[in-house]
Amino acid sequence: MYVSSSPGLSLLALVQSTSERSLPFPLNSENRHSFCVARSGIYHLFRALRFAKGESVLVPDYHSGNEVSAIRAAGASIVYYPVLRNLEPDLEVLSRLAKSNPRVIYVIHYLGWPQPLREIEELCREHGSILVEDCALSLLSDIDGKALGSFGDYSVFCLYKTLPVPNGGLLVQNRNILRDLSELELEQCPRAAEAGRSAELVLEAFRSRCDGIGSVLSGMKHAFGQLMRAAKVRHVPVGNIGWNIADVNIAMSSVSTTVMGGLDYDQIRHRRRENYLLMQSRLDGRVTMLRDDLKSGVCPLFFPILVQDKRSAAEALWKRGIGAVEFWNDEGSLASSSSGAGAKFLRAHVLELPIHQDVTRSQVEYITDQVLRLELQPVQ
Ligand SMILES: Cc1ncc(COP(=O)(O)O)c(C=O)c1O
Repeated sequence: MYVSSSPGLSLLALVQSTSERSLPFPLNSENRHSFCVARSGIYHLFRALRFAKGESVLVPDYHSGNEVSAIRAAGASIVYYPVLRNLEPDLEVLSRLAKSNPRVIYVIHYLGWPQPLREIEELCREHGSILVEDCALSLLSDIDGKALGSFGDYSVFCLYKTLPVPNGGLLVQNRNILRDLSELELEQCPRAAEAGRSAELVLEAFRSRCDGIGSVLSGMKHAFGQLMRAAKVRHVPVGNIGWNIADVNIAMSSVSTTVMGGLDYDQIRHRRRENYLLMQSRLDGRVTMLRDDLKSGVCPLFFPILVQDKRSAAEALWKRGIGAVEFWNDEGSLASSSSGAGAKFLRAHVLELPIHQDVTRSQVEYITDQVLRLELQPVQ
């Protein structure tokens, strides 16, 4: 069996144009700007905010590194606030730091779960700070029907993490429209990058249903990709951790727009939640879980478990064909220097298991059986 870490793309979706269905927030938002990757949107937002010397942004110490690099490159000074083991900020410390009247309070909604927005909005009001919501990991989640990313002044989304699109990041302006952003001129996404990533997604979908032939085709695609790189065809990395100022003006590909027009978003959310709950019921009490709540508005990105040794657990699951991912390891210098105790713990122990919309019920059962066979030690 093969279960990919993220959803694949059907050939039909590549040619399907817009469906009858209306698009959900943020895809229908009036003031949105799309980019090849979300970090470019973050960079352009912070540039457009024109930080003066001494103005700071409060950023959670549990972060991917991409958003931090983008904020820094735009010229803003970062002050970190601590995130606890339950993925929520230490509100006491955050309130204390907010007394310095930061220009921006930046929140990351992790894996679909909302941050305590009522308290954070209150802090922003009290200190005159701009609220930026990073929804890179939380597309399609809401609180009582109000979409994440519609609370703050600005929000950013990473589309390719939840949807089967080759690339795509969105920046949404909910208030105080910035003129600099309307004047941006983007360059087209390089065709080779768009085609290469789309082919990978189609092969992933195929491999999930038909592993033998799929893995041969994936090997061929990989070899072809290496040839293209050797020939110095422009490559735009997606899904990596890294920063390249030369890529900030690359637009989202038209393939992503076509695919998004044909997706069933209610179904995507429904499948993710159903898979999540099934996995939770099968692992409950037998594996250490990061969270045990899933409020009705949450669209989970993946199923996080806590393991003592991420590397060996991930490798063991990969050998069994399961796309388990070591989430936000403490590899970069950025991460190690900024992490508090909660973030360090999360970086050391969170392993992601796939529950996306392509994962079938029998695949969830297979994943949980394999996880239980690892006889993982509890994590305290
Ligand atoms: C929290 C968060 N913000 C922003 C980004 C940037 O997204 P992208 O890869 O689309 O640039 C990421 C990507 O890993 C992320 O995890």
